[in-house]
Amino acid sequence: MAKTDNHQRRTSSTVSAQPRLHQNAREIQSFGTVTYLLPLDLEEPVRLEVTAQLNQVLADTMTLRDLYKKSHWQTAGPTFYQLHLLFDKHYGEQAELVDSIAERIQLVGGLSIAMAHDVAETTRIDRPPRGREEVPVQLSRLLDAHQVIIREVREFARLSDELGDAGTNDLLVSDVLRTNELQVWFLSEHLVNVPLVVAKESPEKAGAA
Ligand SMILES: [Fe+2]
Repeated sequence: MAKTDNHQRRTSSTVSAQPRLHQNAREIQSFGTVTYLLPLDLEEPVRLEVTAQLNQVLADTMTLRDLYKKSHWQTAGPTFYQLHLLFDKHYGEQAELVDSIAERIQLVGGLSIAMAHDVAETTRIDRPPRGREEVPVQLSRLLDAHQVIIREVREFARLSDELGDAGTNDLLVSDVLRTNELQVWFLSEHLVNVPLVVAKESPEKAGAA
């Protein structure tokens, strides 16, 4: 037996405190597949379809999550403090959704996308500039992103219901949709143009004076 073979055999079988660095091997599951032996009473084609839908929602939710952090850091002006806090609160809620969606995909036997490159290639949300934008533009951009998610979640919720996947339907409606709807309300109220200090006089009163 060659000397190198002996060395490899000794290092692979000997108990040692030496860390085994730089290991590599083939993937054990390819992206876009589902494992097939799961006692979930959900057929493989259903789990494949649901996994694809959820990965789209996942990519968009990860993008919205990061858009909130960008907005949290870059916001400016008289409403800086309240928006700085609100954006971070919404960031945290979106981060929780990301984990719930990703783990639902794994639970049904699929693979969640995870890395920024894959998210960027998959998301339907428009890419924002790197630079800083005004508050109304930040808010509009966030609302547009919410709209993308809300639209697809309504459609995917209907489909998952038809496919008989009540768990995914519940996640999409009770968690993703409800959270996004609530966040839309909180953002939208900041785009209502009301006076801050002095109320605008009504036309009748102004005419009588
Ligand atoms: Fe912060």
